[in-house]
Amino acid sequence: MKDLTPDRSTLDPIEIASRDEISALQVERLKWSLRHAYDNVPFYKQSFDAAGVHPDDLKSLEDLAKFPFTVKTDLRDNYPFKMFAVPRTKLARLHASSGTTGAPTVVGYTQNDLDVWGTVVARSLRAAGMTPGDMLHNAYGYGLFTGGLGIHLGADALGLVTYPVSGGMTPRQVRLIKDFEPKGITVTPSYSLSILDEFAAQGLDPRDTSLEVGIFGAEPWTNAMRQEIEQAFDMHAVDIYGLSEVMGPGVSMECVETKDGLHIWEDHFYPEIINPETGQPVAEGEQGELVFTSLSKEAFPIIRYRTRDLTRLLPGTARSMRRMEKVTGRSDDMIILRGVNVFPTQIEEALMETPGLAPHFQIELSRPERMDVMRVLCECADASMSADDRNTAARALSGKIKQTVGVSAKVDVTDVGGVARSEGKAVRIIDNRPKS
Ligand code: DLL
Repeated sequence: MKDLTPDRSTLDPIEIASRDEISALQVERLKWSLRHAYDNVPFYKQSFDAAGVHPDDLKSLEDLAKFPFTVKTDLRDNYPFKMFAVPRTKLARLHASSGTTGAPTVVGYTQNDLDVWGTVVARSLRAAGMTPGDMLHNAYGYGLFTGGLGIHLGADALGLVTYPVSGGMTPRQVRLIKDFEPKGITVTPSYSLSILDEFAAQGLDPRDTSLEVGIFGAEPWTNAMRQEIEQAFDMHAVDIYGLSEVMGPGVSMECVETKDGLHIWEDHFYPEIINPETGQPVAEGEQGELVFTSLSKEAFPIIRYRTRDLTRLLPGTARSMRRMEKVTGRSDDMIILRGVNVFPTQIEEALMETPGLAPHFQIELSRPERMDVMRVLCECADASMSADDRNTAARALSGKIKQTVGVSAKVDVTDVGGVARSEGKAVRIIDNRPKS
């Protein structure tokens, strides 16, 4: 793989500023953001007043912990536009989450917000090794989802040549990669596996393409999956994180030269880690729930938003800004099986270590009697694998899950193509337990 380390002179100065400089900017921007939310969004006025705090109470970064949290239901309760801090005519764009149950979450941006979003995504793409004039195959979904259009905004800001292929029509994905010869691909890790399958189906070797870097996010994925993808495509694989409520993709990004966690663009998004049970900030470096406060957003300021994503904060390395470790998973996706906490990423890790299995999987939960049962559905790597070899692989995975995660799982190895494929975010858990 080629060395894609960006030229330091092309970075935004704040990316490599001193911590003191970054903190000073954060205090100044936090004061503005709290005041802006309080003065313009009735929800924040009520919630600050109820907690007995006022924007003027923030003198230092530590004071932020006095302010109340914002959670997903607050956004739903204020559907569609009541969390907005600017009049409709000042808006330039709306996006929304899919909202599988209940009202979707709607987020809005002013033109200035879009410019900031473009800046942080451009920074992210540059951190992945993309430089002006490089071509990008953007396979994140275009639409209300922030992935496609968010990446596009940053790619334009950086000066890339982007084609908006979006998700789906997998044979065409392969064809365009072959014919257009892009340097980078932006895609969910799970959909990249479908693209890989399609390369195989067409008898093509993905290692022969022009791709030098893949920028993967929108769902949890492990370092074991990184190795698999890097090996299969012969390209770098880096992690990009974000969420609509805070902005979209580009809240944090892994640098291609270090691949050691994601630098949070702290000049626009202030991170905290809290204990999800108590709501208290955890000690530095401890794992917990990630909480974000926007520092510059005009249309949709967000104060102490509980993301439900679990990670830890680490000091800066390739950039001065702090890193977050690869997300383990969302607290909503945590399975509690006979008292043991299980995340799909742990199953992914065990799967990747088991020979003979493809990297696709789903977890099915059921309750045939009184106890919950977990079944892992995965695929054999090779259609010609014998029934005996499939059973051996299933037993090996089940043993590995028992050993590393500490729970019993029934493993079923299906034929190639037996696990549902995603074109965007993978559905990892199918919960068939009776609703209590
Ligand atoms: O998924 C934004 C995005 C698009 C990020 C493209 C990266 C690339 P939402 O649809 O609002 O926004 O979903 C946000 O997805 O809270 C995490 O649970 C999960 N997520 C996003 N990126 C990562 C990642 C976009 N790199 C939710 N690792 C977040 C793990 C991620 N989980």
